[in-house]
Amino acid sequence: MPRHLAVIMDGNGRWAKKRFLPRVAGHVKGVELVREMVRNCLEQGIQYLTLFAFSSENWRRPQEEVTLLMQLFVKALEQEVEKLDRNGVRLRVIGDLSRFEPRLQELIGKAQEQTAGNTRLDLTIAANYGGRWDIMQAVNRMVAAQPDKRGGWQESDLEPYLSMSFAPEPDLFIRTGGEERISNFLLWQLAYTELYFTSTLWPDFDSAEFGKAIASFQQRERRFGRTSEQLVKPHA
Ligand code: IPE
Ligand code: IPE
Ligand code: MG
Repeated sequence: MPRHLAVIMDGNGRWAKKRFLPRVAGHVKGVELVREMVRNCLEQGIQYLTLFAFSSENWRRPQEEVTLLMQLFVKALEQEVEKLDRNGVRLRVIGDLSRFEPRLQELIGKAQEQTAGNTRLDLTIAANYGGRWDIMQAVNRMVAAQPDKRGGWQESDLEPYLSMSFAPEPDLFIRTGGEERISNFLLWQLAYTELYFTSTLWPDFDSAEFGKAIASFQQRERRFGRTSEQLVKPHA
């Protein structure tokens, strides 16, 4: 089982279009599948689930869709946090939250506080998140913390400042919706992650589809630069 699963939930709009529904109907259905995904992770004992909900580029969408997505986010926080808390889920939101309206920022803060003691599943929502933004905010904070240091920075100096510093790097990345790209999601952290792309649209990504992704992951040999033989006999 992967310890950390990171997902780009793509295809909501196409799911709705196929049904002659407005795009937002796809997003509403998408929220249901988030619930199912959380359930699956709890059942399977996956410790970290990170979901890309809104990219820093998604502001470019029609104003109406952006507004509806924000409303859905607010509604989900209002309705789901109690249940997440009862199930031992710790919720975090990563991304540049300063661009969200105060009500949303407040709900996020409260949800994070309320669930801070939970340890069964770490659920992270990436919202107004961009992988490049993440690296740059980390660089800025790293340098500000040691303004007199001239150079010689190490990867390990940067890592504590990245948004996902609390988690191990993702073992498995899933992107639904058929597109085979990272779309500025976790750039630093995906360096050695197993990638899984499926044409299944996010609102159709049910437990059976989840099972297929896990099965694919379990077939992979993670070599991290070593040879196959070294993995069989670790000290060869
Ligand atoms: C993903 O679905 C959800 C968000 C980006 C918020 P899309 O809305 O991108 O769906 P498609 O790609 O248009 O089908
Ligand atoms: C990526 O989906 C971001 C989220 C799922 C939140 P998009 O549908 O916005 O990605 P691109 O722009 O088509 O790559
Ligand atoms: Mg899309």
